[in-house]
Amino acid sequence: MTDCLKIQGGNPLRGSIRVQGSKNAALPLMAAAVMAKGRTTLCNVPDLADIRTMILIIESLGGVVERSGDQLILDTGPIHSNKIPEEYMRKMRSSLFLLGPLIARFGGAEANLPGGCAIGERKIDIHLSGFEQLGAFVQMDETQSNLQITVGRLTGANIRLSYPSVGATENLMMAAALAKGETIIFNAACEPEVQDLQAMLNQMGANIEGAGTTTIRIQGVERLEPVRYHVIPDRIAAGTWMIAAGITRGELQLEGVRTDHIGSLIHVLKQSGVEITRMDAETIRVRMMKRPKAVERITTAPYPLFPTDLQAQLMVFFTVADGKSIMRETVFERRFQHVEMLRRMSAEISVSGSSAVIQGISRLNGAQVRATDLRAGAGLILAGLAARGTTILEGIHHVDRGYEHVVDVLSACGADIQRTKTSLLLTETAS
Ligand code: UD1
Repeated sequence: MTDCLKIQGGNPLRGSIRVQGSKNAALPLMAAAVMAKGRTTLCNVPDLADIRTMILIIESLGGVVERSGDQLILDTGPIHSNKIPEEYMRKMRSSLFLLGPLIARFGGAEANLPGGCAIGERKIDIHLSGFEQLGAFVQMDETQSNLQITVGRLTGANIRLSYPSVGATENLMMAAALAKGETIIFNAACEPEVQDLQAMLNQMGANIEGAGTTTIRIQGVERLEPVRYHVIPDRIAAGTWMIAAGITRGELQLEGVRTDHIGSLIHVLKQSGVEITRMDAETIRVRMMKRPKAVERITTAPYPLFPTDLQAQLMVFFTVADGKSIMRETVFERRFQHVEMLRRMSAEISVSGSSAVIQGISRLNGAQVRATDLRAGAGLILAGLAARGTTILEGIHHVDRGYEHVVDVLSACGADIQRTKTSLLLTETAS
């Protein structure tokens, strides 16, 4: 028996949702806490599997972490190890965020590398080349799995990223914060999570400017102090619930939304007929009374363009739109695995290379489907909510990595969704 979600589609979502704190902002902020010996408090941290994994890693290094409501108190004073255990590295790619802080604090770090994952190859060459440019000596064993980084104290450098990788930008910002001298990162990622990291590091005593643009300047400092910091709202969760309101032709009030972080999604949803009204600084109302209109061309790309983490959910929205939409995925190589599952639900989608052509139909049909990654899982939940009949979604551990209390949140807005068990797995029934 394995956990699954059973969704009876057709109910319009109505009600209000307080959007969780950002997982992708919180993970590097937790890693940054390692650089300041003492008790850091992070507020608005979602209770998610990935966050729990990061807590376990910090504890395995010797730190002490407590949760109290939405706050995490991280005592990183007792950390004594700079080796990230293999089991965690394999479980969560974001373990990588600890490399920069550990190198900065201990003059070196050791890790067993994660392989590729469901959505793409996910190399770490940009992270490693950045550490080397900061003076670190990077050694990999012949199986390419054991990584040792040694340096002493890092030295500031001019680093041009070959791609504006979010994780590499964050890792190098953290490492450079305690380096000797000035570091400039060119072609840096501009994502809101990078800006949030800069804000927390500066509160800790770092001297960083430029996050949110493609050039980030870091003047290294001697030490960082623990702080209390409030994590930004999760723009991907907010976007997912906006699309949920749209596809179920419902009306949701979303609280804790930074509209400036999801401009590209708001633009597309408005074009397809979703009514989005700003109620106050962080509250919006999203309403949809009719069938969505197709939007001809959407391309995922680094911020501020359309986020790859909302590609699956938006594709689901377009499966029931009036007309043909084309989506191009430029960030990850294998991020169309939900397509096969959506076809099981009667969607008409054809994929050619990095583009998917979606011919809207009037209604999806419920089916047994499987989440292959976090955002594909979110997309399939939306598909189930909008479909005629029952959808059984397997692989929900992926969804639990990124969406807090997903069943409770959706049920409170009228969805017919429950966590249950299935013994008849898709892998056994698939032809
Ligand atoms: C972060 C987000 C993830 C999001 C992604 C892109 C977190 C915890 N995760 O992931 O949800 O989907 O940004 O917005 O914040 N690459 C390399 N070499 C590297 C690093 C990256 O080739 O050293 C490639 C990747 O394989 C990928 C692309 O660059 O094709 C973007 O990856 P990156 O921006 O690094 O994503 P993450 O930081 O892993």
